[in-house]
Amino acid sequence: MHPNIQIIIEADYEAMSRKGAQLFAEAMRAKPNSVFGLPTGSTPEGLYKELVRMHKDEGLDFSAVTTFNLDEYYPIERESEQSYYHYMQKHLFGHVNAGESRINIPNGKAEDASKEAAAYEEAIESAGGIDLQILGIGMNGHIGFNEPADSFGADTRHVPLTEITIASNARFFASADEVPRHAVTMGMRSIMTAKRIILMASGEGKAGILRDSFLGPVTPLVPASVLQLHPNVIVLADKDAAGLL
Ligand code: GLP
Repeated sequence: MHPNIQIIIEADYEAMSRKGAQLFAEAMRAKPNSVFGLPTGSTPEGLYKELVRMHKDEGLDFSAVTTFNLDEYYPIERESEQSYYHYMQKHLFGHVNAGESRINIPNGKAEDASKEAAAYEEAIESAGGIDLQILGIGMNGHIGFNEPADSFGADTRHVPLTEITIASNARFFASADEVPRHAVTMGMRSIMTAKRIILMASGEGKAGILRDSFLGPVTPLVPASVLQLHPNVIVLADKDAAGLL
């Protein structure tokens, strides 16, 4: 394992989620106007749930934070239950005091997806870059919607989704046919320039891809493997996901 990568293994999903929330809250308390990069998916649901609890019970204050979500389907309506906009309202922003003007999620209905991506990239830069990026990981090693490819896609951009991602995300839609075929995703450079990164993974289904990402070669065929080159990464996993590390 690369010496820059710290691995934290928790007993189960709940403990992993609590640990993630604790690290997140520490970053917020140390720097109330932190810029966070946020993921969606089933993995961070427990993290958001715990952050909401900390806001309600302990007064964890989101009023000064800026957030950038990693990605959004394209095209998709904000109001659609499957949009990442809707997901973030449901799991986090609907329950905490984050300022609406500092919440950033790519617009899945932008007329020109490439222009939307370029403007998003610029907004991240003008916010001063990301202090703490939270990541999940797809079954094929994708982060955000950076799918396995011949080269690491650097910029925030409009991308097609692969069949495996469409199939694995179909569980959130009525059928695979309903899954949008494209997305706008932060690129690897935007992710890699984050000052700190925490990648979360849960369940034995993720064990193989964690091994390939962190013990295998750095290759765009396994997008998360590029994190081996980042100076400050934590892999936060439950026992099942960490089984092959
Ligand atoms: C989606 C998201 C990714 C996420 C991945 C894994 O495709 N674009 O950001 O990491 O799913 O999701 P899950 O946590 O549900 O396994």
